[in-house]
Amino acid sequence: MQEIGVAIIGAGAIALANHLPGLALSPQARVVALCDSDRATLEKARQQTGVEALYTDYREAVAHDGVDAVIVATPNFLHPPIVHAAVAARKHVLCEKPLALNFPDALAIHRAAESAGVRHMTAFTYRFVPAMRYMKHLVDAGDIGTPFHFRAQRFQDWGDRAMGWRQVRKLAGSGEMGDMLSHRIDYGHHLIGPIASLVAQMKNLLAARGGQPSDVDDWIAMLCDFRPPPTPGQSAAQRSAAPASSAPTGVLESTKFATGRGMGHRGQDTVEVNGSAGTIVYSTQKPLELWIGKLGDADLRKIDIPREFLVWPGSPRDPLQGDPLATFRYDQGFEFIDAILNQRPCRPSFREGAMAQAVMDAAIVSSDQRRWVDVDYADLA
Ligand SMILES: NC(=O)c1ccc[n+]([C@@H]2O[C@H](COP(=O)([O-])OP(=O)(O)OC[C@H]3O[C@@H](n4cnc5c(N)ncnc54)[C@H](O)[C@@H]3O)[C@@H](O)[C@H]2O)c1
Repeated sequence: MQEIGVAIIGAGAIALANHLPGLALSPQARVVALCDSDRATLEKARQQTGVEALYTDYREAVAHDGVDAVIVATPNFLHPPIVHAAVAARKHVLCEKPLALNFPDALAIHRAAESAGVRHMTAFTYRFVPAMRYMKHLVDAGDIGTPFHFRAQRFQDWGDRAMGWRQVRKLAGSGEMGDMLSHRIDYGHHLIGPIASLVAQMKNLLAARGGQPSDVDDWIAMLCDFRPPPTPGQSAAQRSAAPASSAPTGVLESTKFATGRGMGHRGQDTVEVNGSAGTIVYSTQKPLELWIGKLGDADLRKIDIPREFLVWPGSPRDPLQGDPLATFRYDQGFEFIDAILNQRPCRPSFREGAMAQAVMDAAIVSSDQRRWVDVDYADLA
């Protein structure tokens, strides 16, 4: 049996909560090295994994004997240098979102990984939600006809809680947008296609958290046009030049100040898509159901997710075991290892991570300059 040795770089919250159980779904995956700049965190991860190869310098972890693949789960500003070090050493890489602090850096990561011929993946974890996978299937199958509107709302109640590196723009890139809305930007791309242009507003509502400065957005709202859907025989260039009047629209909002709505899994997280033949609504609070209405219906009705969508294709995970709000996340690690073993592109790859970053760069320009901005994906879309 071929074994894939994995180094985890950044052994904090998400590495322990998502990546370790995700890797455990693949009998071929073995964590062979752990790296964290904080020794207490490293020790906690050692106790949880039994892995004895411990590093505080990511370069040494990448070079550890038997490392085939690297998972990057550090604060955002460290993603590019760590990914470049891993890719230069010809390691496959799963990198947390957002891929970088800006689009040029994300694009460079994508290009470096492609040139090195390694597998590369962005941790857009919500791609693995059973209901979101089924929603995508239904939209692709034409169940709601031509999409008109995409709507995403991520509302949490963080109050004035300290957020560590997440509240520092030079470490995180952005606040609520990169942390939460990046997932929904990616899902909009996945479901409808690339966002063509947008107008956004971002607000920092608290200048300090936990007694430390906070200079990131606590709230972001975005209005956008997607590219019009392709017509048969249309080239990519013709599609981007098609009139905006035929484009599906998007309204996305994310905040840390939805007082009383709870945090994390419990905070509101909904996506709605309206098309010429129907509407589908999804909520992460109920990851195993969707709400659907068809042309002429008086209201939406609940549908359960068919069995074949409850786990990622090939994943051995038992969908009836564990908390469904947590367990879908483990399929992400399975997908990474499965793509390496089968020598195929990961879904989603760095390309999707970089495309979401292009939208986020455009949103920052739009908010700063108070105007509509076209999204520039370079040669990615
Ligand atoms: N995909 C998702 O659903 C999801 C969810 C949460 C977090 N994330 C992303 O995961 C990443 C980590 O988030 P987190 O919540 O685990 O943060 P965290 O702060 O809990 O963990 C980050 C770890 O990186 C370590 N670190 C800092 N500098 C380092 C360095 N130079 N070398 C090695 N380790 C270093 C820190 O000590 C810390 O233990 C972020 O990019 C975040 O956006 C993604």
